[in-house]
Amino acid sequence: MATAVETPLPARQIQPPEDLFATELAFLAAYDSGPRPPAWRLTPRAVVTFVMGSGDELKLPEAVPGLPRTLTVGAKFVGDRALVERCVVTLAGERGLLLVGEPGTAKSMLSELLAAAVCGTSGLTVQGTAGTTEDQLKYGWNYALLLAQGPSRGALVPSPVLTAMTTGGVARIEEVTRCLPEVQDALVSLLSERRIAVPELAGSADAQVHAAPGFTLIATANLRDRGVSEMSAALKRRFNFETVGPIGDHDAEIALVRRQAKAAVERTGTAYTVDDTVLEVLVTAFRDLRTGRSAEGWEIERPSTVLSTAEAVSVASSLALAAAYFPGDRDVLGLLPGHLLGVAKKDDPADADRLLSYWDAAVRRRAEHGSATWRTLWDLRGVLEG
Ligand SMILES: Nc1ncnc2c1ncn2[C@@H]1O[C@H](COP(=O)(O)OP(=O)(O)OP(=O)(O)O)[C@@H](O)[C@H]1O
Ligand SMILES: [Mg+2]
Repeated sequence: MATAVETPLPARQIQPPEDLFATELAFLAAYDSGPRPPAWRLTPRAVVTFVMGSGDELKLPEAVPGLPRTLTVGAKFVGDRALVERCVVTLAGERGLLLVGEPGTAKSMLSELLAAAVCGTSGLTVQGTAGTTEDQLKYGWNYALLLAQGPSRGALVPSPVLTAMTTGGVARIEEVTRCLPEVQDALVSLLSERRIAVPELAGSADAQVHAAPGFTLIATANLRDRGVSEMSAALKRRFNFETVGPIGDHDAEIALVRRQAKAAVERTGTAYTVDDTVLEVLVTAFRDLRTGRSAEGWEIERPSTVLSTAEAVSVASSLALAAAYFPGDRDVLGLLPGHLLGVAKKDDPADADRLLSYWDAAVRRRAEHGSATWRTLWDLRGVLEG
């Protein structure tokens, strides 16, 4: 007897949020049937719930085939709910949204989550670089078709932005400030006129591509690279700015780091064995060095590199993988100073000395006050001298 063979999706290193959270998105669409802005998949409130998590279990008013009756939507972005609400309102008003902040504060992640929830895809993306051209924001041509048929709508290759315009979707522009000013300027006219002229198709109905209702842009910009200050005033005016800061709450940051490190290990099919005290000192050290002040109020010399949550996540994941693949070899805490040095020493060699002075001040004082974990770290000071 023939049986239907389901072709499994090929394995991917990273699933986009619209695939990873497909059930949550479908559930939220059924759960909140309130009014939606044009072309939106979810209500604005459901978009916020998707990003921030529902906390409690949600129950569908009636059963929907293929969906669970109840679901707790997981928290994804850790931070200010009011900020996420403002982002959603900006998008609902079809205004451009610019997420700015230090590296590693989840700007890209937030923009992907918002795009996936609003229009069902986070994939309409242009990566801003010094080499980004205006064509990459507008359209190009399929030259074989162009030569065979001459300019026609069929031979036109839309950019992700143009696709978002025609479908009423959300296009994402990563690191917009890295684009050259003249390329950034292409966005000004696009955001004000909401159409792209195709001069090659002059005289036909396709000479102008108009944005469908719902179309908008989310751009991200990193404060450490070419600054937002270099954006033209005209472009700035067309975006609502939201600054994404580092995670304020110590415990929330530990919980996030734990969740992500666990996920990294679970992907390999091995067990997660890192003790919470290790994560706690890791996150504490990152926060001390990031803010220049310890929880006890001691002044700390800050390295010039960014010690972001994203880096705390990757160090925690490395420690967790080391514990999984080399069990019993060595206490993972022993690996922490080396990893911290790797993160801190990226830009300025003097940052290694700053880390050492952190050890001589904060780590030593905590070791003297009796915490075994900090004492172990203090004993590992030698790793940082070199
Ligand atoms: N507030 C946060 N909530 C959830 N995850 C966070 C948060 N801050 C950092 N992270 C972690 O950091 C990772 C990297 O974030 P992302 O790449 O989106 O940062 P970014 O701000 O775009 O950085 P860059 O400026 O370098 O592009 C996320 O995948 C997540 O693991
Ligand atoms: Mg980014």
